[in-house]
Amino acid sequence: MEQIKILDDFYKFTTENKAIPLTFNQYLILGDEPLLVHTGSVQQTKELVPKIKVLLDGQDLKYVFVSHFEYDECGGLEYLLSHFPNVKTICSAITLRQLVGFGFTNEVIVKKPNEILETKNFKLKFIAYPSEAHLWEGLLAIDLDRKIFFSSDIFIKMNNIFEKEARSNWKYEVDNLNNKDIPSIDELKTLQNNLRDIDVKYIATGHGPFLKLD
Ligand SMILES: [Fe+2]
Ligand SMILES: [Fe+2]
Repeated sequence: MEQIKILDDFYKFTTENKAIPLTFNQYLILGDEPLLVHTGSVQQTKELVPKIKVLLDGQDLKYVFVSHFEYDECGGLEYLLSHFPNVKTICSAITLRQLVGFGFTNEVIVKKPNEILETKNFKLKFIAYPSEAHLWEGLLAIDLDRKIFFSSDIFIKMNNIFEKEARSNWKYEVDNLNNKDIPSIDELKTLQNNLRDIDVKYIATGHGPFLKLD
């Protein structure tokens, strides 16, 4: 697992799996109320926890954001909670239903699309995310202060999946979303409309290069 400092208080962690081939990214925002974005699979979380403990330097992890229910987004949640039992999981109502069905009982903050979660060191705005084959409603998130868009499984660059970062622009990315990303034309169009006017500088992808926007 590779750790990259992107901003003074913002880190990216990446694990490569050449067999798929795919990379898996998690992110950490440091500050008074630290936030982890995704756990990765349990194998990835086991590598991640010691790294974030060093960065937290004795501080507790306050939140983990889970964009949708899948092994690479939240497979390591139970392991994370065994090290940080006070973590509040931020997710959609449907993601919570999945987690509860797998025996999850820890504290959760359920957010709806367009809601904002404001803390001492970040302000996250949420956007509806019709995720995976079932199009279950998950959440994408924008850090309004740092202008980072957490894109989960969209805006993935399969042609340069192992590059650490790449340049792009927001209009291109939104225009080029397609039915491989969101397998419903109506839901795809709705998501594109919801994304079009967002003002961001970075796309923190769940897979592939971190995107810096022109
Ligand atoms: Fe996923
Ligand atoms: Fe994913």
